Amino acid sequence: MAPVTVTGAVVAATLSIALLSYFLRKRSAHHKALSPKNPKKGLIDAIGNTPLIRINSLSEATGCEILGKAEFLNPGGSVKDRVAVKIIQEALESGQLVQGGVVTEGSAGSTAISLATVAPAYGCKCHVVIPDDAAIEKSQILEALGATVERVRPVSITHRDHYVNIARRRAFEANEVALKHKRVKHLDAKDVKQINGNTSEVDERSTVFSTDCKGGFFADQFENLANYRAHYEGTGPEIWEQTGGKLHAFVAAAGTGGTVAGVSRFLKEKDPSIECFLVDPPGSGLFNKVTRGVMYTKEEAEGRRLKNPFDTITEGIGINRLTENFKMAELDGAFRGTDMEAVEMSRFLLKNDGLFVGSSSAMNCVGAFRVAQLIGPGHTIVTILCDNGMRHLSKFHNAQYLSQHGLTPSATGLELLRLK
Ligand SMILES: Cc1ncc(COP(=O)(O)O)c(C=O)c1O
Repeated sequence: MAPVTVTGAVVAATLSIALLSYFLRKRSAHHKALSPKNPKKGLIDAIGNTPLIRINSLSEATGCEILGKAEFLNPGGSVKDRVAVKIIQEALESGQLVQGGVVTEGSAGSTAISLATVAPAYGCKCHVVIPDDAAIEKSQILEALGATVERVRPVSITHRDHYVNIARRRAFEANEVALKHKRVKHLDAKDVKQINGNTSEVDERSTVFSTDCKGGFFADQFENLANYRAHYEGTGPEIWEQTGGKLHAFVAAAGTGGTVAGVSRFLKEKDPSIECFLVDPPGSGLFNKVTRGVMYTKEEAEGRRLKNPFDTITEGIGINRLTENFKMAELDGAFRGTDMEAVEMSRFLLKNDGLFVGSSSAMNCVGAFRVAQLIGPGHTIVTILCDNGMRHLSKFHNAQYLSQHGLTPSATGLELLRLK
């Protein structure tokens, strides 16, 4: 009987081991299925590497492959997330900004929203000066994100109270507050009294910046080339990789010029035959600059013209001065786009592709359509889908607002654009 018992024990042991290893394998497979591959390390890591979407309706209408870089999928909702990250990272690296410091910016919205989104991830704060003609939902978002917001009257860039100039001043003021606080810490009560007696300006400003402020840094998206580098090192290489280098043209509108400059320069360096274009909204001087070499008509003194808020309903694009960022662009030509075309384009994309885009994205798609008309079928054209329509509910996607400006869309297709 003994051998039978031993055999039975061996069989039982083998069976138990097999069963155990089966359950262990099953468990580990279950765990593998649950654990995400390459999780993003925090919010900053989730910025960029946005999908390139084939815009089916426009591709079919033109016979070209029209691709939109879906920047609205960035965590802060726009292409400006990349710029915010690059500006803050470079400032921290150079020591111009320290943790606990405040990043100030003059912005019509998107860059400010991106700065306010990413600043906490770097232990920083955000102060925004915004023109009061920008859609109200933008300042509401900024405040909800914890930024401090100043809404100011739009004036010419040469005016000391242009929103960009105020933002520059605020950074300076934040530095003064930090410096004063540092000094106060090292002085006795008598000295403090003296300083307080002589610093009414700083006292007034300390209502904007608290005494624990560690200094300020002016993001300066228009002139700070970190903006251009964000696109030269990020957006451009991604487009190149996502198309396998097989693209014929790139087109975008410019606000600061960072996107069009960074992407065009990168693509041209890779392949000089890729044609790069600007599409320019009403009221902007860039079309003239690209096509005729002059920014202004004779009547307009350089830099003095106030871009009339009613020149265009598009937001974030169009400008009447040459920025350091735009100067980096390598362009082969430019197109003008109208507000009506942008509105019609946005409704066409929504109806046919389910793409709910903002005004600059719609203008970019007008540009892509123009490029397709120019270079003909069989080409691949890339543009940028900067943000989505939810940021534009009070103006660009508001029927009443559009009707007040004679911009009620009525086209059934792209007939408006085909007339060109
Ligand atoms: C919504 C939106 N789209 C496009 C742009 C233009 O991009 P860039 O500043 O890189 O020229 C901006 C700039 O502020 C923007 O806010």
